[in-house]
Amino acid sequence: MRILVTGGSGRLGESVVQGLLQAGHDVVSVDLRAPTRHREHWFAADLTVVDEASWALARVRPDAVVHLAAIAVPFSRPEREILRTNTALAYNVCRSALDAGAGTVVVASSPTVVGYGAPTGWAPSYLPIDETHPVRPWNAYGLSKLMAEHVMRMFTAQAGDRMRLAAIRPCYVIAEDEWAGAPTQQGHTVRERLDDPALAAGSLFNYVDARDAADFVEVLLRRAEDVPNGETFFVGAADALAREPLAELLPRYHPGTTGIADVLAGTGSAFSNANAERLLGWKPERSWRTELR
Ligand SMILES: NC(=O)c1ccc[n+]([C@@H]2O[C@H](COP(=O)([O-])OP(=O)(O)OC[C@H]3O[C@@H](n4cnc5c(N)ncnc54)[C@H](O)[C@@H]3O)[C@@H](O)[C@H]2O)c1
Repeated sequence: MRILVTGGSGRLGESVVQGLLQAGHDVVSVDLRAPTRHREHWFAADLTVVDEASWALARVRPDAVVHLAAIAVPFSRPEREILRTNTALAYNVCRSALDAGAGTVVVASSPTVVGYGAPTGWAPSYLPIDETHPVRPWNAYGLSKLMAEHVMRMFTAQAGDRMRLAAIRPCYVIAEDEWAGAPTQQGHTVRERLDDPALAAGSLFNYVDARDAADFVEVLLRRAEDVPNGETFFVGAADALAREPLAELLPRYHPGTTGIADVLAGTGSAFSNANAERLLGWKPERSWRTELR
């Protein structure tokens, strides 16, 4: 497959480019900035600009698009800018992909759509959280990711069988060098997140190895015809990024989970990969217990 990865120079993007190349695909990456690896596969464009997005898609004419480009960190820019940028990116990329005849588009969303951490309080309807769990984003980043899912579904309704679309909600992405001590997205190391549970509590202790997320994307692209058009998938590690069971940890940091978290057995995550396993036979292979150096 000829695959265009938007945001291919990012934390997740570099692993996705690497994984797709390893699987034998013809990969092109488009990003505002250059990647550290596979620079020869990259070109620059600002995909918030309509003409640049159409030019990028028309230039590559991919069979499939993996849309990762975004402002990926909540509150890293003014709220209005995050909402405007991420929504425009999702729309421009899906629109241009359809116009350029792409057969498949995968859009990156986020577990934050669920709304955990809201300053007004939050309680899950049930645990572990799956794709049917209600969404209630409380900041511009979470809202922009929900918008990206709606954009994805809008094009499903518009294009029907002309294009397969899906959204993925990757958990807190940990790239390969971060197991060896490089800072993670929030600035601290994996070990610091484990040593001080307050650091990972904000994201309900979720995480995924970037290579597992890349494997998932590869399987999804290859088997896009086998899943209902417009599907959404959580993509996370099987366990939680915590040394204690979540049945004990979650109620300490999220009082709304008291009682509800009792169902979480042992080292299990607060998020379910059951949809990915049921529809695609995908399971994560890596855990902090095997990867942390
Ligand atoms: N990292 C995580 O833990 C995580 C979790 C859930 C979802 N996500 C989502 O996954 C995707 C990738 O996340 P990441 O951690 O790799 O982010 P990142 O910030 O490392 O990478 C995003 C890339 O998008 C590029 N980009 C931003 N604006 C652009 C534009 N206008 N035109 C072209 N390129 C542009 C950036 O230059 C950057 O390289 C994002 O959509 C993010 O919201 C990430």
